[in-house]
Amino acid sequence: MEIKEFYDYMKEISKIQNAAALVAWDMRTKIPSKGARDRADVMGKLSRMTFEMETSSKMAEFVEYFNRSKVKDSLNEIDKRNVYLATKQYRRGKAIPPEKFEKFMIACARGETVWQEAKAESNFQKFKPVLEEIIGYLKDFTDMFSYEENRYDALLDEFEPSTTTKDIQKVIDGLKKDLIPFIKKLSNTKRPDDTALKGKFDRSLQERLSLEALKVMNYDFKAGRLDETEHPFTIGIGPGDVRVTTKYDPSDLRPSLFGTMHEGGHALYEQGISEKYFRMPIGTGASMGIHESQSRTWENMIGRSKAFWKFFYQKLTDIFPQYGKISVEDFYKAINVVEPSLVRIEADEVTYNLHIIIRFEIEEALINDRVKVSDLPDIWNAKMREYFGIEPSNDAEGVLQDVHWAGGQLGYFPSYMLGNLYAAQFFATAQKEIPDLEEQISSGDLKPFRKWQKEKIHRYGALYDPKDLIVKVTGEPLTHKYFMDYITKKFSEIYEF
Ligand code: CO
Repeated sequence: MEIKEFYDYMKEISKIQNAAALVAWDMRTKIPSKGARDRADVMGKLSRMTFEMETSSKMAEFVEYFNRSKVKDSLNEIDKRNVYLATKQYRRGKAIPPEKFEKFMIACARGETVWQEAKAESNFQKFKPVLEEIIGYLKDFTDMFSYEENRYDALLDEFEPSTTTKDIQKVIDGLKKDLIPFIKKLSNTKRPDDTALKGKFDRSLQERLSLEALKVMNYDFKAGRLDETEHPFTIGIGPGDVRVTTKYDPSDLRPSLFGTMHEGGHALYEQGISEKYFRMPIGTGASMGIHESQSRTWENMIGRSKAFWKFFYQKLTDIFPQYGKISVEDFYKAINVVEPSLVRIEADEVTYNLHIIIRFEIEEALINDRVKVSDLPDIWNAKMREYFGIEPSNDAEGVLQDVHWAGGQLGYFPSYMLGNLYAAQFFATAQKEIPDLEEQISSGDLKPFRKWQKEKIHRYGALYDPKDLIVKVTGEPLTHKYFMDYITKKFSEIYEF
């Protein structure tokens, strides 16, 4: 058997995935409301087709043949990795009986609907039965996937390959020790005033600003576009087509601007993957955490930096002249307010990771039967008190705030935290390797940094596991140290202590 046969087959899968991505993009941006219900069936059909191809008897032949030790040894690094990823997908797909998986998918679809109602009514009891059902399936699945130490490892593997519960626990232990006292210190210091950031912001002008930001980032508009949506996302539709979406809040331009930069960071990653990897299993990001690190770099480490606003403030005041009255220094402080808050997606970059730690601790205990679904509201509130010193007044702004559990996505949250930590560690390396990075950012020349990201991270796609990639780029395994150094330096200056 020739490796070309395997690649031809993978190309066919990739084309169906591209069609599914286009349908998904349409469903979340442009589709007329009456068209949505039937389009969901189209989406279902395309997902089934991909799944069937990934677990077909043809794929079984490839997996069997290319994993024979003699054959495997004759493959180059790229072929080996592609076979490895396809094999992993095959085995995961085969581990669960299709009927059981279908039931799980139906439970998740119902879960999301019930969750929406439960959240609107702030009624956890309503969500409880379907969540119990979903968790039940996930426990069964983890046992079918097999894991070495902790059930939670099997869940993590889907989002953060090669990263275990133990790895995450270790990072969290270190982070907690340094981060919690730092947040206390910030809370006891006078916070910057951000009232000047509120106002009325025309939708089309916000769009102009978002496009301006993407241009500065060197996002390739010939290989993508920007559209409006309810829950912003980035999606790769295929080679040469990576689309960004954002949301316009008429009274605050922060969500659209920083949201666009966030999604733009994801898009640069996808646009930066080597063209040789198109339509191969490695033609995607290394993990959710690595992906998130690229978005957080642009949103926070660049987008909320003093250097960036040295030149971008002029562009902002050109579009929104009302900002002419506020000094760039005050503006910079206002976009960097730190405040313990109830809602994860509204959290600042300092307190954000605490929201993830809470979710990780709950998920890990839940999947290992150390807590029950019925205990979740109490546990949630207790952890909010412990970590933030505040408590939600109802479950809608507490345990019911995120959709992830309703969609069966346990194991996803840690990627957000890892993203923040990877971002800081990568950025520290970039600062070492590009000595005048700061001056370049201040003058609006982001090309050298974009080139650095592409060369060091993006072009490899999923050729390396995140654990290996971080060592390859930065010379050491993931540590929370760089994140702490970054926020300590930045925020002790802003908060003047
Ligand atoms: Co993201």
